[in-house]
Amino acid sequence: MCGIVGYLGARNPKDVILGGLKKLEYRGYDSAGVAILHDGHTKRVRALGKLKALEDKLAHEPFNGHTGIGHTRWATHGVPSEINAHPHQVNGVSIVHNGIIENFQDIRRDLIQSGSTIESQTDSELIAHLISDQVQQTQDLRTAVERVLGKLRGAYAVLATWEQSPDEIVAFKEGPPLVIGHGRDENFVASDVQALIAYTQKFIYLEDQEVAVIKKDSIQIFSETGKPVDRDFVELNWDAEMVEKQGFPYFMLKEIFEQPRTLAVSLELLTNKERQEIITPTEYDDKLKTIFAGATDLRIVACGTSFYAATYGKYLFERLARLPTEVDIASEFRYREPVFNKKTVVMVISQSGETADTLAALRLVRQNGLEVISICNVKNSTIARESSLSIPMNCGPEIGVASTKAFTATLLNLLLFASQVAKVRETLSRAAETELMAALMALPAQVDLVLTHDKYFENAARGFHQFKGFLFMGRGVSYPIALEGALKLKELAYLHAEGYAAGEMKHGPLALIDERMAVVMIAPSDELYEKTVSNLEEARARGAKVIALGTGENTRLRDVSDAYLAIPASHWALNPILATIPIQLLAYHMAHSFGYDVDQPRNLAKSVTVE
Ligand code: F6R
Repeated sequence: MCGIVGYLGARNPKDVILGGLKKLEYRGYDSAGVAILHDGHTKRVRALGKLKALEDKLAHEPFNGHTGIGHTRWATHGVPSEINAHPHQVNGVSIVHNGIIENFQDIRRDLIQSGSTIESQTDSELIAHLISDQVQQTQDLRTAVERVLGKLRGAYAVLATWEQSPDEIVAFKEGPPLVIGHGRDENFVASDVQALIAYTQKFIYLEDQEVAVIKKDSIQIFSETGKPVDRDFVELNWDAEMVEKQGFPYFMLKEIFEQPRTLAVSLELLTNKERQEIITPTEYDDKLKTIFAGATDLRIVACGTSFYAATYGKYLFERLARLPTEVDIASEFRYREPVFNKKTVVMVISQSGETADTLAALRLVRQNGLEVISICNVKNSTIARESSLSIPMNCGPEIGVASTKAFTATLLNLLLFASQVAKVRETLSRAAETELMAALMALPAQVDLVLTHDKYFENAARGFHQFKGFLFMGRGVSYPIALEGALKLKELAYLHAEGYAAGEMKHGPLALIDERMAVVMIAPSDELYEKTVSNLEEARARGAKVIALGTGENTRLRDVSDAYLAIPASHWALNPILATIPIQLLAYHMAHSFGYDVDQPRNLAKSVTVE
């Protein structure tokens, strides 16, 4: 939440910062601003609304200078407005902040008592006041920041500049990520590498409580106790094209259409076609065996879409690896005083690898002496770094706020990982593995085939425009897809939608059904198919309009539904991946036809680094 960028070098800082903020707009988009230092002064421009508003304002502003910081905001304290937009400035100190200062009321009271005038409603402005007070005494920005660190409680990633030392940016953090990009005679800093990969592939990830002094030709990092820290660069080798729309109107649509390729990447790495085998990479083969050797049970913890993927994981680990598995929403888990057994294995899932609640859950588990496996997309993210074993999703940067390709990549990686564990626990027979492998090899082409029916899904979406309520239902491994389908519709099309286990309908939700309610029934041909069709009939008998999703040319489902969406025949464990494609496109087309911004749904941000 909130994206920040800083630049020092010979390029025009305005262009670098705006370009970087564009790549970070997924993190927040209610206001934005820049502050650029030049000739002992700071020029600050802020605008309410999306980045475009700032861009328009800046178009008429000549900028000189070689040092600047910028911010795109997702409001926490204080409404979206120009006065609450960052950078905040006090006596020549400018700051941009991502996070929440929890003790802001105490700080605010103290500052007011000591005569400060606070302009905005934000917690962030207070950081500028604190640094400004200190820098008047120390005449050194880093020392001032170090003095302020002890006063802040909460989550923060901050960049600070001071007019009297215009050639440096001081960066510090606790919680949200900050990455420093290294160039020749220029350096960068941002919330996410996506903002910087057009300029450099060499990065340093700042750790909590560290302070970095960044100049155009040097990067110095200091520990909490003020000692210099030596940190190697991480080389990414990401292609800048990966963060462009490549001809699609939205990142989300591009990411949906990338899925055949992203799934193929994981299959390439984790299967052996010739031997018809699911393989465990040598880097973690021994570790996996040690972790799961005496495991009694598995807990999977995540938020949002990643939590729904975890729910799918529960079915897999129990059915394939015969390992008792429970799933938890991270924000509940971390405050529930969960009971750990020494043989419990914990897994966390996070696309961004920075979600505050998931990270806190991981840390809680590690404090209790247990190892944590993570599945993350962003490889050097905090969650990936702090896990005992981190499995990459390998689907490339995901920029659309609503998760799509990362969801299917997680499902596939969960399936491959559960199979690896099942092999260690000797619960996956050779025949079952060969059967699964055959289906896995067909998966990318099958996903591609489903995508070719996009126009058909668009028409189906059009037929359901007038409905205000949607119930998504499924059984077994289709149940998590019902949850995910409902979430996609809520967050993109702003429609009320709920996901239910179809067998639960009779226990209450059936009362919701009438002719104004649409039901999306996920009913692939698996062992629960007949029961799912009965649930569909029950809904229909009470007046619901039905979208049925089934396997192949299923005339029975076609006959009992108002729209029928087909997926190709596959293995029970892969039906959910195939079923996800039509529900993603359904939500996309609904939202698009209402004229909503599909990449940046209202009130949301992609990387939820505050709780
Ligand atoms: C919904 C969505 C969110 C995220 C959730 C967790 O489309 O993207 O629900 O899944 O905020 O994010 P990560 O996976 O980054 O921890």
